Amino acid sequence: MDHFTLRDGALHAENLSVAALADRHGTPLYIYSRATLERHYRAFDEALASVPHCVHYAVKANSNLAVLNVLARLGAGFDIVSGGELSRVLRAGGDARKVVFSGVGKTAVEMQQALVAGVGCFNVESESELRRLSAVAAARGVRARIALRVNPDVDAKTHPYISTGLKANKFGVSLAEAERLYREAASLPGIEIAGIASHIGSQLLDDAPLLDALDRMLALVDRLAAAGIHFKHIDVGGGLGVRYRDEKTVEPAEWAAHLLPRLAGRGLEVHCEPGRAIAGNAGLLVTRVEALKVGEEKNFCIVDAAMNDLIRPTLYQAWMDIVQVQPRLDEAARTYDVVGPVCETGDWLGKDRQLAVREGDLLAVRTAGAYGFTMASNYNSRGRAAELMVDGDSAHLIRAREDFEDLVRGETLLP
Ligand code: LLP
Repeated sequence: MDHFTLRDGALHAENLSVAALADRHGTPLYIYSRATLERHYRAFDEALASVPHCVHYAVKANSNLAVLNVLARLGAGFDIVSGGELSRVLRAGGDARKVVFSGVGKTAVEMQQALVAGVGCFNVESESELRRLSAVAAARGVRARIALRVNPDVDAKTHPYISTGLKANKFGVSLAEAERLYREAASLPGIEIAGIASHIGSQLLDDAPLLDALDRMLALVDRLAAAGIHFKHIDVGGGLGVRYRDEKTVEPAEWAAHLLPRLAGRGLEVHCEPGRAIAGNAGLLVTRVEALKVGEEKNFCIVDAAMNDLIRPTLYQAWMDIVQVQPRLDEAARTYDVVGPVCETGDWLGKDRQLAVREGDLLAVRTAGAYGFTMASNYNSRGRAAELMVDGDSAHLIRAREDFEDLVRGETLLP
């Protein structure tokens, strides 16, 4: 559920008219709803309330400082994959001890930055990383708390680009290797074993693969316990999906009801790393129709947002809902491909959509709060869109639209 609703013939973000916000701030414009973000974070927090737990919001989904700050105020932890994301979390008031650092290619500099900040856990993805982290930590006279990210080799049945838990994927270490590496980790000077982690993919519409992965991890936990290696937490990663069209999603409460009985009596703190399920439905991308082009084979609705603003449709062939901000009753609907102005045939936001639009009308791409702005680029020298957070009756500009000076910052001519 979100707080974007059609009222009095116009789309609203909480209590504000989306058209009025677009007139005031221009388009393309990302609009987020604070109430929706909070609601989704709380759904996870409450689902796990009966056990010690920490919900680490995956910063990559939407890393705007205001978004992070709203979640930090609720006590969220954060899942990061770079030094840049760590700096964002700290700038937004996040608690470093509730940060988990994931990612297959952490540099020594990033490791140092994270150790200085005092992050809660490194999710280590290879033997080479384990040794490097130990050396970096030992050189500073500290121990890095780690979990190994195990790759349980289960099929999350999602888009191949966002499946992360198969042997063929670059992430994590196999269960067999994990057993060996935990024994090695126990003897390394710069390492403290804290937990065990896995992440099998994103936009999961069934939690059976997650439970399958969990069972495989728990078997490993038992084997390691016999060897005297014990864990404080288990990170049960795998992103629950959101509804873009008519998908049947798994609610956090449902997932927790399946998960928690399997963990009963083990004394493991439960960690998770949701990104999309918290931010996805909390955002819209608002765009204006620049031109309508009626062709022999196809009609094009050319809008001012493009693949550089929202790459999910073309990158994953993702279907994202496109709605009219002020639906027209006075215009006949036509079938359009909704495309941007970027010079690529792949620059589209939606194909074969029924729209009753005129030039100048506003459209909104729904469920664009996750992996929308964070994947935006400056391709075609387009400044990135402005971002707005609506909170009840007020709207806050949380990122200014980029202008030309932003685009060329750091560039110089030859002498
Ligand atoms: N933790 C780890 C280690 C991850 O790899 C991911 C996502 C997450 C957490 C967050 O997963 P979520 O709850 O958002 O499903 N750009 C793609 C999604 C890539 C996700 C990669 N990893 C998209 O737009 O669909």
